[in-house]
Amino acid sequence: MTIFSPNGRRRSALAACAGLLLAAAVGSTPAAMAATDAPAQAQAQAADGDAAARIAWWRKARFGMFIHWGLYAIPGKGEWVQFDKQIPVTEYAKLADQFKPDHFDPDAWAQLAKSAGMKYMVFTSRHHDGFAMFDDGDNPYSSTKAAAHRDFVADYVKAARKAGMGVGLYYSPLDWRFPGYFFPELYRDNAEAMRAQYHRQVEKLLSNYGKIDVLWFDGGEADWLSFAGEWSIGEWKKRPWGTHYKGGFDWQHDKVESMMRRLQPNVLVNGRADMKEDFHSREGDGALGDFDNQHPWELCTTIAGAWGYQPDMQPKPLKHYIQLLANVAGRDGNLLLNVGPAPDGRIDAAQADRLREIGAWLRKYGESIYDTRGGPFLPGAWGASTHRGKTVYVHALNWTGDKLALPAIPARVVRASVLGGGAAKVEQSAHGIEVTVPLAARNDIDTVVALQLDTPAEGLTPVR
Ligand code: GLC
Repeated sequence: MTIFSPNGRRRSALAACAGLLLAAAVGSTPAAMAATDAPAQAQAQAADGDAAARIAWWRKARFGMFIHWGLYAIPGKGEWVQFDKQIPVTEYAKLADQFKPDHFDPDAWAQLAKSAGMKYMVFTSRHHDGFAMFDDGDNPYSSTKAAAHRDFVADYVKAARKAGMGVGLYYSPLDWRFPGYFFPELYRDNAEAMRAQYHRQVEKLLSNYGKIDVLWFDGGEADWLSFAGEWSIGEWKKRPWGTHYKGGFDWQHDKVESMMRRLQPNVLVNGRADMKEDFHSREGDGALGDFDNQHPWELCTTIAGAWGYQPDMQPKPLKHYIQLLANVAGRDGNLLLNVGPAPDGRIDAAQADRLREIGAWLRKYGESIYDTRGGPFLPGAWGASTHRGKTVYVHALNWTGDKLALPAIPARVVRASVLGGGAAKVEQSAHGIEVTVPLAARNDIDTVVALQLDTPAEGLTPVR
């Protein structure tokens, strides 16, 4: 199904050696991490000082866990099952009577995130199906009023906070139960009721659970309205790229934005609700995109090809995730890796194992990822680079010969070593830098070479 992709978005589918700075950061809450030492570049580039300060902890964190979990876990066909299979709203709603997860253990989720080397989590408080996973007062279509009788958001927030994670909530303003979403012109009252729900629920999420570090919107752009299409007499057409919704309905995001900043001045927000974004969302491995150290961004993707639970989805080999993480950090972005727990609340064992393997890698090589910025060597087929202070981490992902040829930089390499052990030889000239690592010291996944410069790397203009 491609029609529902107004922004070209595909909808289908530690730190032992991470440096003292990081260790301090990990122990503290994002609030405590912020403000202190936002990278110079970020400070210079952000539109306002507050934005630069509040994004600082997140940029250092680099790696987070996305969790898609809700009623849709029961049919096990992904979070779009209601729409994809055209299940009548009243039929689908019966899932709420069955949703009584026996093994919901948010501490286990948070511990898994921690052992994967992740620093923050984002949990689906409400997806497009409309079922609220939190206490929404009298709303019968919510986890406290339905069979589960549990405020999943409350339990998740507590567990994530306890584990030292940044706490994020995913929220979808759109709700498929409302015809006013599909026909905002025809069912204006209904669209307005959907909007009232959006404003009310966001206020609850930002008022009742303590500090929220990330509010991760999805489907809140005006362009998603009318199912991202245009209706004219007798015809529905996908709204062409770059053509915006021009109907009379308005989400009134400005009101939510000011309420949000009043209730949670430091919450970070992505760009999917037409409000000023703290970071931009890229979606799916295919959307890795280019280096960008001007606007904070995050790549969200799945560990096993599905957002919401689907049985027997196998993770890819470890190499895939490590190279992805290096490629993301080397482009100056964050990685938000999704798991979709089963209806009983458990995360698939094979996926959990892979996450722990990622964490083991990060405990060894994490200093080259956490609290780094991308560059100065722009990514290429060879790999990517990150830096902190006077150290540049060259993530050599593909060796095509004996030597890795990097472009010239206006700094002198004074020392080079291979993380995890081994010597690297560096020859530097006016034309560039050649790095040689003996075969025995190379790593099939990522050979991380630390180059010590005679000057801080953050002042260097990224080069290709
Ligand atoms: C898409 C999908 C949604 C998923 C999201 C994650 O926009 O509509 O199901 O939650 O991607 O980025």
